Amino acid sequence: MTHSWSNSPPAAAAAAALVVAVALAAFSGGCNAGTTSAFVRKAQKAVDMPLDSDVFRVPPGYNAPQQVHITQGDHDGSAMIVSWVTPDEPGSSLVFYGTSENHLKFSAKGKVYRYKYYNYTSGYIHHCTIRKLEHDTTYYYAVGVGHTLRKFWFKTSPKVGPDVPYTFGLIGDLGQSFDSNSTLTHYQSNPTKGQTVLFVGDLSYADNYPYHDNVRWDTWGRFTERSAAFQPWIWTAGNHELDFEPDIGETVPFKPYKHRYHVPYRASGSTSPFWYSIKRASAYIIVLASYSAYGKYTPQYTWLEAELPKVNRIETPWLIVLMHSPWYNSYNYHYMEGESMRVMYEKWFVDYKVDVVFAGHVHAYERSERISNIAYKIVNGACDPVPDQSAPVYITIGDGGNQEGLANNMTEPQPKYSAFREASFGHAMFDIKNRTHAYYAWHRNQDGHAVEADKMWFNNRYWNLKEES
Ligand SMILES: *[C@@H]1O[C@H](CO)[C@@H](O)[C@H](O)[C@H]1NC(C)=O
Ligand SMILES: *[C@@H]1O[C@H](CO)[C@@H](O)[C@H](O)[C@H]1NC(C)=O
Ligand SMILES: *[C@@H]1O[C@H](CO)[C@@H](O)[C@H](O)[C@H]1NC(C)=O
Ligand SMILES: *[C@@H]1O[C@H](CO)[C@@H](O)[C@H](O)[C@H]1NC(C)=O
Ligand SMILES: [Fe+2]
Repeated sequence: MTHSWSNSPPAAAAAAALVVAVALAAFSGGCNAGTTSAFVRKAQKAVDMPLDSDVFRVPPGYNAPQQVHITQGDHDGSAMIVSWVTPDEPGSSLVFYGTSENHLKFSAKGKVYRYKYYNYTSGYIHHCTIRKLEHDTTYYYAVGVGHTLRKFWFKTSPKVGPDVPYTFGLIGDLGQSFDSNSTLTHYQSNPTKGQTVLFVGDLSYADNYPYHDNVRWDTWGRFTERSAAFQPWIWTAGNHELDFEPDIGETVPFKPYKHRYHVPYRASGSTSPFWYSIKRASAYIIVLASYSAYGKYTPQYTWLEAELPKVNRIETPWLIVLMHSPWYNSYNYHYMEGESMRVMYEKWFVDYKVDVVFAGHVHAYERSERISNIAYKIVNGACDPVPDQSAPVYITIGDGGNQEGLANNMTEPQPKYSAFREASFGHAMFDIKNRTHAYYAWHRNQDGHAVEADKMWFNNRYWNLKEES
């Protein structure tokens, strides 16, 4: 195994990273030099797009549907949940859909939800599950009424099977800064063409505003619509979804997130929307909750214990896990925060040969070697991660570009478990070719759309247990 130090980022990235570093130091009060210029430059670099930005534009017409987004609606991809918000009144909860653009011959009726948060009252949030869809088929759909009817389309995934090629995009900690917009643009312009986004948590960062100004949840919904209305985004809850704020009387965790982003958790026998699984093409995707209880006998623990043996690698060779807080992270941000969950579940991941774990939380990029740290028995001293070909690769992709800026302070020297790390904003693609091979690439925002800043051929852990180069 080789352990390379992180590639030096291009000059622009290095400069930006330095600026953020100085600015962060200034905020934490630990910096004596460069405070003024750093603050000014941070404001240019990692700042949210203003409310009147083009990407937040409200669609024209009274009560026009906005914030349209879709996600998988059942366990195997023959249903889709369509969600949207009508701002003024409930309006219609019907989704019209069909395979011919000009003849939407089916319809399904959804449900409307509303919530209050501090002094904010949400619009009317519609969720409608459309079922019995044909696989590998383009569907057109419309929401709204009369002159505000809005039309979109999506393509369903191919039927689940071992050699079905499929391309997942990876985005985390997106937020709504100018950098977030750049990340989404890069994802959409990537010639590899992601078909579904695996989102590893921390969506809007509305909670960074006074009283968690939920208007910023609405702007985020409008900003991401340009992708999320046309392909499913698979949701993971992060710490910025918690919104638990007893000081202002908000004691229901995840309230805005839970109302706005529905997931098909019951289809996988889960009792909570924060942990669940789906099958899509040749992948089995398990979403875990870093901010729900995961200790022994908790609902998440018992669900995962029963879930892993159900994964049939003959049907879905690729076993992918999403979570927010990474287990292996060598930045000085959120260092070892994922440790207690790692201790609970890592052995299962090795036993069941998980191919890859994607996490966010740390606002940077990192890819691990295949390592495990499960031998330790309190007296044997075996407490270091060791190379383990049955272990997953751990990838931190929390570099979506939110207003908090980059995490660029790394532990030194780079630990052996860390294969590649760089503090730049970007996204990644996991491109499954067949049951044995998947091509993975990370794209940083400073580069052209096709440039791969880190890449790796994955050999499937069940079908092709060989060391990767
Ligand atoms: C966001 O990105 C899109 C696509 O590149 C661009 O058209 C739009 O003007 C950008 N908006 C802002 C506020 O940067
Ligand atoms: C909510 O309260 C905040 C702080 O008191 C205030 O700035 C904001 O305008 C209020 N919003 C609404 C919708 O009343
Ligand atoms: C980086 O993190 C370490 C450990 O938390 C801290 O001691 C150091 O001051 C940080 N450096 C900068 C430049 O913030
Ligand atoms: C699987 O995909 C890899 C990479 O594209 C290719 O080299 C290999 O031949 C494929 N295997 C089969 C059985 O087609
Ligand atoms: Fe986070």
